[in-house]
Amino acid sequence: MSQAIVDTASALDPSHLSFVHAKSEGSQWWRSAVIYQIYPKSFRDLNGDGFGDLAGITAELHSLSSLGVDAVWLSPFYPSPQRDGGYDVSDYCNVDPLFGNLADFDALIDRANHLGLRVIVDLVPNHCSDEHPLFQAALQAPAGSPERDLFIFRDGRGPAGDEPPNNWQSHFGGPAWSRITESDGRPGQWYLHLFDSSQPDFNWDSESVRTEFERVLRFWLDRGVSGFRVDVAHALVKASGLPDWGGRADGGSSEGFPGHEAPMFGQPEIHNIFRRWRDVLAEYDGERILCAEASIDPLPRLANWVREDQMHQAFNFAYLHCPYDAGALRHVIDSSLRAFDEVGAPTTWVLSNHDVVRHASRLGLPFGAPRSGDGVGPRDEQPDSDLGRRRARASSLFMLGLPGGAYLYQGEELGLPDHTALADEHRQDPTFHRTAGERVGRDGCRVPLPWRSGKSAAGFSCSGGSWLPQPEEWHELARDRQEEDPGSHLQMYKAGLALRRDLGLGAGSLSWVDGDQFPNCLAFVNGNVLVIMNLGQEPVVLPDGVLLLNSGTGTAGGRELGPDQTAWLELA
Ligand code: NOJ
Repeated sequence: MSQAIVDTASALDPSHLSFVHAKSEGSQWWRSAVIYQIYPKSFRDLNGDGFGDLAGITAELHSLSSLGVDAVWLSPFYPSPQRDGGYDVSDYCNVDPLFGNLADFDALIDRANHLGLRVIVDLVPNHCSDEHPLFQAALQAPAGSPERDLFIFRDGRGPAGDEPPNNWQSHFGGPAWSRITESDGRPGQWYLHLFDSSQPDFNWDSESVRTEFERVLRFWLDRGVSGFRVDVAHALVKASGLPDWGGRADGGSSEGFPGHEAPMFGQPEIHNIFRRWRDVLAEYDGERILCAEASIDPLPRLANWVREDQMHQAFNFAYLHCPYDAGALRHVIDSSLRAFDEVGAPTTWVLSNHDVVRHASRLGLPFGAPRSGDGVGPRDEQPDSDLGRRRARASSLFMLGLPGGAYLYQGEELGLPDHTALADEHRQDPTFHRTAGERVGRDGCRVPLPWRSGKSAAGFSCSGGSWLPQPEEWHELARDRQEEDPGSHLQMYKAGLALRRDLGLGAGSLSWVDGDQFPNCLAFVNGNVLVIMNLGQEPVVLPDGVLLLNSGTGTAGGRELGPDQTAWLELA
């Protein structure tokens, strides 16, 4: 059922309203949920080893419940050599001792249930770690064996087989193939890894791989998870024959190959895998979800992934990557709502995650400013931190007013920036090492959270250890300090999330407010609330209505909306 706004039009000139509908059907929780991403290594360290752990998450879940989110998503905590921050899994049905054990996981679920929070976990089906027993067995087995068939092994090109089987590049830099030494000591076949060489890709043409992952799904569903965020969901199936590719390693461009789809992404057979997973979830209580991490564009194509027999949600990266510009934002919001509405799925919104520069830093840089790949390093132009923070507050409050689901990344509720001055010696991201430092990688957004100002490691760890150093200024941003400050970033998130829930904004509909009333602003009505963001240089006067929130002050302030501020008004 689409919901049109009619009665709010009276508060504004009705000719200025244009309608875009977001469907909200039934009580399916994910359609309007706010889901908080936890990066376990950096959330909270309870055992004092300098790495976050599951017990640390359990101990602080009440903070997330009081923040007002509906669910948490845990990035991988499975046994892993940690070559790619845990996205290199060596056992899909266990907990890495770094993070605890399965009893700790069960305790986390119990606590979350007690607090009314749902838990979703990461599924990493495209690749595993080279330490996974199945890959180790494949290395020992001969070419053409069933063990090798679980992965993508091929003979090399050239007379001596010493050239990679095709020209694909790793997402982290360098070739996407590595050659193995066979058990008799001779140079042997090559295996495909779209990411680091320590992350061999599974062969999803193999029925054994499909069955194995259905076992993994049931293992975690039986332990009480509410669903899965599916890593690189677009990459599982590769085009037959593994043809050469002239576009970017992430499949985003077919430069030189016009009209061609990337052979490693978005293959049609993927949809049958999702359908089987959806059937597995249907064996449970109808409350479990799948969310695709998929770099698929344009949006109508991505919407195919959330048809009712497949995933429930997909991350909206078009929104995350949108410039801070009224026209561009309006376009991406319209396209998102239309595309997802078309298939009856909810739209999601996201501004930060563990793979991108946090929005408090990103928005403090000119859009498209040259930087070192996925991060901002000490040799790059540094963000304007005041501007970034102000825009981050405005953007977050604007996003929380939109209908649909939203994903938050740990620390954004504190307005944390990236650590943009992190020294090279601390960098762990494989991108940094695979590109000889040319791309600094993603460590800057993964720095452990500050909990208590003035304590060592800003309260992240009882021992003061921290696997990545925190910037000194983070003491000022620590959660305990922000809890006490009514104008803090944290208090603005709390107030926004509480109002969003009370006013049912996530399940609402959006009508744009057009015209000259608010120059350089983006304004929409959702339910009875006018959400307005000022992206211009001049203040604007707010219309009549009860001022609920203003990102500039954190609470309701005056009748003016300054540049880079968002307000929520309740209309008469
Ligand atoms: C996407 C994850 O978010 C990222 O952190 C990881 O490096 C790649 N997938 C590979 O698993």
